[in-house]
Amino acid sequence: MASLTNHVNGRGHEEDEPKFVLVTGGAGYIGSHVVLELLKDYRYVPVVVDNLDNSHPECLHRIEALSGKKVPFYPVDMMYKDGLREVFKKYNFSSAIHLAGLKAVGESVENPMKYYRVNIGIALNLVEVMKEFGVGKLLFSSSATVYGTPKYLPLDENHETGACSNPYGKTKFFIEEMLKDLSQVENDWNIVLLRYFNPIGAHESGEIGEDPNGIPANLMPFLTQVAVGKRKEAKVFGTDYATRDGTGLRDYIHVVDLAQGHVAALAKLEEKCGCRAYNLGTGKSVSVLEMIAAVEKASGKKIPYVLCHRREGDVGEMYCDTTKAETELKWKATRSLDQMCADSWNWQRKNPTGYKTA
Ligand code: UD1
Repeated sequence: MASLTNHVNGRGHEEDEPKFVLVTGGAGYIGSHVVLELLKDYRYVPVVVDNLDNSHPECLHRIEALSGKKVPFYPVDMMYKDGLREVFKKYNFSSAIHLAGLKAVGESVENPMKYYRVNIGIALNLVEVMKEFGVGKLLFSSSATVYGTPKYLPLDENHETGACSNPYGKTKFFIEEMLKDLSQVENDWNIVLLRYFNPIGAHESGEIGEDPNGIPANLMPFLTQVAVGKRKEAKVFGTDYATRDGTGLRDYIHVVDLAQGHVAALAKLEEKCGCRAYNLGTGKSVSVLEMIAAVEKASGKKIPYVLCHRREGDVGEMYCDTTKAETELKWKATRSLDQMCADSWNWQRKNPTGYKTA
């Protein structure tokens, strides 16, 4: 069992000692920012499990350089419980943050079984191994996609869930349902479902950020790749939505705000909370055309774009009610759209080929 003494710097009392937190998917876009925030907080020692399927070891090296701390890392394939068990044997975890999973919406439509097998399979394995080792505190990385087409706006956590337009979204919904059922019978478990809106931006250093595989499906990485000269023009999917300029509105949130939301939610797991969902967003909406203008301003580059038909499965407008997270987690996103764009651009400019060297 790993000792905490290296981390506590002489802090004498056990209750003051930092707690080991398992972070699955800790080398990914959101996971890496969560790990960095945890490293800044004396209460926690993150331990990363990641199969590096859609992430890069260089990301972990950069986190270590930024924080000045070692990050315990295990390249475990969570489809097999034994690898996970070995990590649980080494650390007396107090909680787990589960971010690992497949996330390409288009691929999930083409290969739904892969998404159900992997996303549901690894969530099940994690929960079963946590139970074996008596760890009953879990943060799950869910998504606003569980709400489907909004019946009303802003979306609060009581909005119905499940009418997702793609298998990726359905895996998030099914895992939420599984965890709700689990909390019905495991009275001593505390589970928080974090429903992310649209995370963008990067750490202010520009050392870690989003490094999509191939052609980005999401708006922000596509725009910054146009700005850096990697792609010719952006595409605006849909100009006939019932929105202020006809293009899609989304609630974009800075990834560092999002990561800080995880740290706030970890404190919630210390209370008897059952299974609770929280929206992580800003409560504000930004259109595609507004985002293009904001990235142009941040980068000083012109972003050519073409107007296209709607993308299948997209909704016109989504933004959240942030009240529950503000009151119960004592957390609120603070970074502006300009900051989000400046940080996305800084990451892209410094790393035109992502973590890979050109
Ligand atoms: C998408 C996923 C969602 C996932 C989230 C992860 C779909 C249908 N939804 O959300 O399940 O949780 O990413 O961040 O894929 N847009 C363009 N041009 C582009 C790309 C996007 O105009 O090249 C528009 C979209 O129509 C949308 C907005 O930009 O209005 C944001 O799109 P995107 O970044 O892909 O996020 P979501 O579709 O909201």
